[in-house]
Amino acid sequence: MQRFEDQVALITGAAGGIGQATAIRLASEGAAVFCVDLDAEGLQQTVASIEAANGKAFSHTCDVSDEQAVIDTIAICISTYGKINHVSNMAGILRFDHLHETKIEDFQKIMQVNVGGTFLVCKHALPELIKSKGNVVNAASTSSLAGVPWAGIYSASKGAVLAMTKSMSIEYCKQGVRANCVCPGDIITGMASPSFPKNVDMKLMDRCMSPTGRRGPEVVASVIAMLASSDGEHITGEDIRVDGGTLS
Ligand SMILES: NC(=O)c1ccc[n+]([C@@H]2O[C@H](COP(=O)([O-])OP(=O)(O)OC[C@H]3O[C@@H](n4cnc5c(N)ncnc54)[C@H](O)[C@@H]3O)[C@@H](O)[C@H]2O)c1
Repeated sequence: MQRFEDQVALITGAAGGIGQATAIRLASEGAAVFCVDLDAEGLQQTVASIEAANGKAFSHTCDVSDEQAVIDTIAICISTYGKINHVSNMAGILRFDHLHETKIEDFQKIMQVNVGGTFLVCKHALPELIKSKGNVVNAASTSSLAGVPWAGIYSASKGAVLAMTKSMSIEYCKQGVRANCVCPGDIITGMASPSFPKNVDMKLMDRCMSPTGRRGPEVVASVIAMLASSDGEHITGEDIRVDGGTLS
C-alpha cells in the first residue's frame, strides 16, 4: 500500500527545486499530482519525469500572487481530479539586497509572491481540504528563525508564512485540517545561486551554511511527504528545519 494511493496533491513551485522534487516524490508514492508554476517548460519536465515512472500528473501555469488565477487553478484541479488531499506551497522568490537600498517595488513583489501567494492558495484550497480532511505544507525557511544578511525582506516574508501557518493549524484543527511548515536551509536549487550586493563580507553568510554539506531538494521532499501522509497525522502547526544542522 502506497502512502498517497487515491490521493490528490496540489504543488506550487513544481517546475523546479523543492516543489519539483516534492511532486516527483508524492507521485512515486501513488498521488495524482497537480503541478502549478509560472514556468510552463519546467512544469512539462516535471510531468514528463512523473509519467516516465508511470505516475499521474497534470501541469497548470499560474501566478500564485494573482487571486483570479488561483481561483481558476483550484477549479481546474477539482475538475481534473475531483478533490484535493494535500497542498504544498513551494512557489517563492528570493532577492538579496541591502535593506537600506531595497526598493519598495521589490518589497511588494517578495511579499506578494511569498506571503500573498501562500495565503491565496491556502484561502482557495481550504474549502476542499476541509471536505477531504487534508493538509498543507508551506515553505518557510531557516530565515524565518534566524538572521540572514541582505535578505531582510525575504526573511520577513518567510517569518510571515510561518506565523500564518501556525494560526491556520489552530483555526482549522477541529475540521480535521493540518498545516505545517518546512524550514529548508542551504538546499541546492535554482534559488540557491542568487546574486549578492557588491563588496560585501561574504563571511557573514557562513552562519547560513550547512555543517554537514549542501544537499539537493529530495531531502526536503521526503520530510514534506512524511508531513503530508498519515505518518504525520498527529503533527500540526509544526516547523521542521531541513538544514543539515545549520541552526543547531
Ligand atoms: N533552496 C533553499 O535553500 C531554500 C531555503 C529556504 C526556503 N526555501 C523555500 O523553498 C521554496 C522552494 O524553493 P526552491 O529552492 O525550490 O526554489 P526554486 O527557485 O528552485 O523554485 C521556486 C519555484 O517557484 C516558482 N515561482 C516563483 N514565483 C512564482 C509565482 N508568482 N507563481 C507561481 N510560481 C512561482 C518558480 O518558477 C520556481 O519554479 C521557496 O518558497 C523558497 O523560498 C528554499
